[in-house]
Amino acid sequence: MVVQDASTDLFSEQSGIHGLGVFTRKPIPKGAFVIQCQGILRHKDEVVEGMRALQIGPETYLAEDPENPRLDDYINHSCDPNVGFVEGSPKLFAIRDIRPNEELFWDYRTSINEAGWQVQCTCGAANCRGKIQSYCDLPGDEQERLRGIVLEYLR
Ligand SMILES: C[S@@+](CC[C@H](N)C(=O)[O-])C[C@H]1O[C@@H](n2cnc3c(N)ncnc32)[C@H](O)[C@@H]1O
Ligand SMILES: [Zn+2]
Repeated sequence: MVVQDASTDLFSEQSGIHGLGVFTRKPIPKGAFVIQCQGILRHKDEVVEGMRALQIGPETYLAEDPENPRLDDYINHSCDPNVGFVEGSPKLFAIRDIRPNEELFWDYRTSINEAGWQVQCTCGAANCRGKIQSYCDLPGDEQERLRGIVLEYLR
């Protein structure tokens, strides 16, 4: 276990999808606040391969603090997510009811916006697209479908 946040009922553990993931001990009802994404603000040129970082603006990332790893750094992607940026800020809310011990997933396409960026997806969801792409590279109808859970700078 990498990190434990005593103020929440979330914990990190080996994921069936990739590396470590984040899980909930207790049920989370749809609409509930789940976790605030935190980290060090970095310009995109400072973000290097393998760094856990959330893109929050055209040139701005919220990157992991190696001295202070946080649970939000370890949330994996799914093409069928259970949390999202409902308010447009870097806070994740449940977008459906989540059961105890279920892994949390957000859709990385709702934050990443680097043209041409993509990674293979192993989420295993029935609607998995096989690859995770940048928001700007998605077809218009898919961007529209995600509109309610993308970060503000993409709305
Ligand atoms: C912020 S980390 C998530 C935590 C990661 N599991 C770990 O242990 O460090 C993001 C990285 O996890 C991997 N990842 C997350 N979700 C994935 C998925 N659905 N399919 C493939 N790789 C995934 C990718 O390598 C991605 O760059
Ligand atoms: Zn997928």
